[in-house]
Amino acid sequence: MTTPLRLGIAGLGTVGTGVVRIVRQKADLLAIRAGRPVTIAAVSARNRDRDRGVNLSDYVWEDDPVALARRADVDVFVELMGGSDGPAKAATEAAIAAGKDVVTANKAMLAHHGQALALAAEAAGRVIRFEAAVAGGIPVIKALTEGLAGNEITRVMGVMNGTCNYILTRMQATGQGYNALFEEADKLGYLEADPNLDVGGIDAGHKLALLAAIAFGCQVDFASVALEGIQNITLEDIRHAADMGYRIKLLGVAQMTGRGLEQRMSPCLVPDTSALGQLEGGTNMVVLEGDQVEQIVLRGPGAGMGPTASAVMADVMDIARGARLPTFGQPATSLRRCQTASSATPAPYYLRLSLLDKPGALAKVATLLGEAGISIDRMRQYRHDAVTAPVLIVTHMTTRDALDTALGGIGRLDVLSGKPVALRIETV
Ligand code: HSE
Repeated sequence: MTTPLRLGIAGLGTVGTGVVRIVRQKADLLAIRAGRPVTIAAVSARNRDRDRGVNLSDYVWEDDPVALARRADVDVFVELMGGSDGPAKAATEAAIAAGKDVVTANKAMLAHHGQALALAAEAAGRVIRFEAAVAGGIPVIKALTEGLAGNEITRVMGVMNGTCNYILTRMQATGQGYNALFEEADKLGYLEADPNLDVGGIDAGHKLALLAAIAFGCQVDFASVALEGIQNITLEDIRHAADMGYRIKLLGVAQMTGRGLEQRMSPCLVPDTSALGQLEGGTNMVVLEGDQVEQIVLRGPGAGMGPTASAVMADVMDIARGARLPTFGQPATSLRRCQTASSATPAPYYLRLSLLDKPGALAKVATLLGEAGISIDRMRQYRHDAVTAPVLIVTHMTTRDALDTALGGIGRLDVLSGKPVALRIETV
């Protein structure tokens, strides 16, 4: 009962500091729940002198995270440094080689090296847990790996980058453009050190690839995620989509199709009345669909000290209690190399065109859509300004290939001003 579980924490930024706080402040509660004390043996970070507002004097300080990972008095290496390669990966590999379990919040490292790390850990009889890597405080890895273990997962979907959702919902609420709200997000400290990880959809793409691996028993394959960021979303589209009853979200979708595994992270329209449509600010939402459970929706904070440290502690407590789950919910040797679907599942699309005021302009557009086999569900034309009129079209279900064929033809007409915008409407 009294053998403590001893942590070695590498990385004392927001999340690492939050973990230290929980271990210190909730020591009794954790010990009762785990049936053994959870303690910190040693810590490591780049800057020893920074005041982090927590007392670190009880712990051995290691400058080198690899040395920390190898310490004999560390049972679990808690990797909170970040970065797909470099010290995080080196220290994680060292920890596994030294017979330690690993808890990490590092989505980039696992998205790129998850299969190799999982194989190494399982061959050594160790576990790697990563609840904090996906959707911050939402226990989505547990939900998928444990709660839905009796389901065949049919689709995983969600808003998994709070910064993007913050920017998009603030555009809608304030009428300010993308650039102004990017700066606002920056001032609030929401952006990653490399903002392209957020607004380019990469951070959310990493998370989706990890969920897809668990959901579909595939080797994690981030390179196959079709990625598109939010940088080109305009206020006009936010407003026009709202007029048609939609919200624009950076939405991740993973599903297994007859053509292979489809993984997309891109701006999509969702109905404004749906749970995803109503998700405001920096909050995350993950929708899990299984053949038995149908659909469950998880909503919560996707970042921040408390929520992310909470997720790290969920993994620490699992290990303290003796749970030995494989990294991706099944032995890494049994994960398949899944074929990538070469095109997205058909969907309705939203089109915005700026049409010149010429007789027959609209008819020509409709003809080209018809010739590509695309049926129009709804259409709205606004008044002309001096020269052009915005036209919004919602299509029935179609393929992206058919749409691109039609858009190619429409682009060659002499009735357009600027480039048409085409966004997928996701059925949620
Ligand atoms: N930068 C992420 C977000 C949190 O904005 O949701 C860490 O993945």
